[in-house]
Amino acid sequence: MTGFASREARAAFIAGLPKAELHLHIEGSLEPEMMFSLAQRNGVSLVFESVEAIRAAYDFSNLQDFLDIYYQGMAVLQAEQDFFDLTTAYLDRAATDGVRHVEIFFDPQGHTARGVPMANVVGGIARALTEAEERGITSQLIMCFLRHLPEADAEATLDAALPFLSLIHGVGLDSSEVGHPPEKFARVFARARSLGLKIVAHAGEEGPPDYVWQALDVLQVDRIDHGNRALEDAALVQRIVSDGLTLTVCPLSNLKLCVVDDLAQHPLRRMLAAGLRATVNSDDPAYFGGYVNANFVAVADALNLTRDEIITLARNSFTGSFLPPAEQAVHLAAIDSFVATY
Ligand code: ADE
Ligand code: ZN
Repeated sequence: MTGFASREARAAFIAGLPKAELHLHIEGSLEPEMMFSLAQRNGVSLVFESVEAIRAAYDFSNLQDFLDIYYQGMAVLQAEQDFFDLTTAYLDRAATDGVRHVEIFFDPQGHTARGVPMANVVGGIARALTEAEERGITSQLIMCFLRHLPEADAEATLDAALPFLSLIHGVGLDSSEVGHPPEKFARVFARARSLGLKIVAHAGEEGPPDYVWQALDVLQVDRIDHGNRALEDAALVQRIVSDGLTLTVCPLSNLKLCVVDDLAQHPLRRMLAAGLRATVNSDDPAYFGGYVNANFVAVADALNLTRDEIITLARNSFTGSFLPPAEQAVHLAAIDSFVATY
């Protein structure tokens, strides 16, 4: 028994549930329409001739396939206003999905390497986040280091971010995982932690369980992004459970990047059953075919998730956030009152 009369009833329940999104790359929310309009505004020529041609190119066989297109796409982002427009479009979309709090990743090295000043990137994103706060969505910003680049580049990026640290809540690690283990970034993450920043890292998306161990033991992460392959190691699962760490799981991303062959084989239910604090997130929604509710609905349909499992996922999104406990409690109470009306 799932506790729902139909799939439609489950989708409506998901749509109404208050939720947080904890794994969202703002550059991955760049829809083809905006890519085209920003290309025109900034005089950037795209290799694609139309919005349809862009969408047709979004057929990936692994993470690297996607990243090659993702880094090309972000070349249209240049002015502070571009980052503001991108972030505002995402926040408007998230609000319609019942998202009350977001923790947003950005990839400064994808921009500074093209000569875009850090101030344009952080300034535009932060201005949009401040405006959204007035409309009721809270947020935190997480600066990611690109792991395919040397640690020295990450160090230089952290230096460039120092004037903006009041706007940045944490640091993360993303891009090509295999061949770039967390320990490659031990020093820069230690410095980030000493600056009072939260620590997250993509681990176990394509990389082996050992990379998840390194994220825990070397980087001392506060949260794990993806973590799928942790399930291959029972001792690792026990460690994540006993540390009470949250996993930011991204079902449609996993499907599009062939981390799973079929959503019916997605590990989300097994994660919950093992006592892992899993959450549902969209990762790069413009590339993977859906925002957070679409991710919830797709995985709920594929695994026939129950009402209790869906409520747990929504609760985990707030308890796994970096919001202070008192604010988490307000959101958890909002979930309780939504559930009580159902
Ligand atoms: N950058 C954007 N999306 C990513 C993902 N799913 N994995 C690693 N790096 C990313
Ligand atoms: Zn990601």
